[in-house]
Amino acid sequence: MGEERVHATHWWIVEGDSYLGAIDLRHYLNAFLLDVGGHIGYSIRPSFRRRGLATWALGAVLPRARALGLDRVLVTCDDDNIGSARSIERNGGVLEDVRTTDAGLKRRYWITL
Ligand SMILES: CC(C)(COP(=O)(O)OP(=O)(O)OC[C@H]1O[C@@H](n2cnc3c(N)ncnc32)[C@H](O)[C@@H]1OP(=O)(O)O)[C@@H](O)C(=O)NCCC(=O)NCCS
Repeated sequence: MGEERVHATHWWIVEGDSYLGAIDLRHYLNAFLLDVGGHIGYSIRPSFRRRGLATWALGAVLPRARALGLDRVLVTCDDDNIGSARSIERNGGVLEDVRTTDAGLKRRYWITL
């Protein structure tokens, strides 16, 4: 590894007292993030999946990314992660490539802010 760490913001997704998931915004990319990880990562608790939460959370973070001064964000997922790919596409992601990386086959999308 040996990759530099980058500044990031981490949000919990909650409803009342319930923790539903989390989403991270990395403020800039290093070589690893440009290749594999992207600007934004998220996960939803299994029992709360397929209710539109990832799509909503990604959409909610985009204005925050814009506010940081970013013009576009890279969002990636495993090639077989249909739910994540759909969430990205629902938020305007444009596929740049499907790339073989050290972490497997990744779909890499850019969202213009
Ligand atoms: C991927 C993940 C974040 C999706 O979260 P989610 O809240 O269930 O996603 P959404 O409800 O917003 O679903 C978005 C779309 O994908 C579809 N979808 C979600 N999960 C799916 C699945 N397992 N199989 C097929 N379609 C799926 C939804 O039906 C929805 O489709 P639509 O836009 O046509 O209605 C969630 O499954 C998860 O946390 N997985 C483990 C961690 C992970 O993979 N994080 C992403 C790393 S890039």
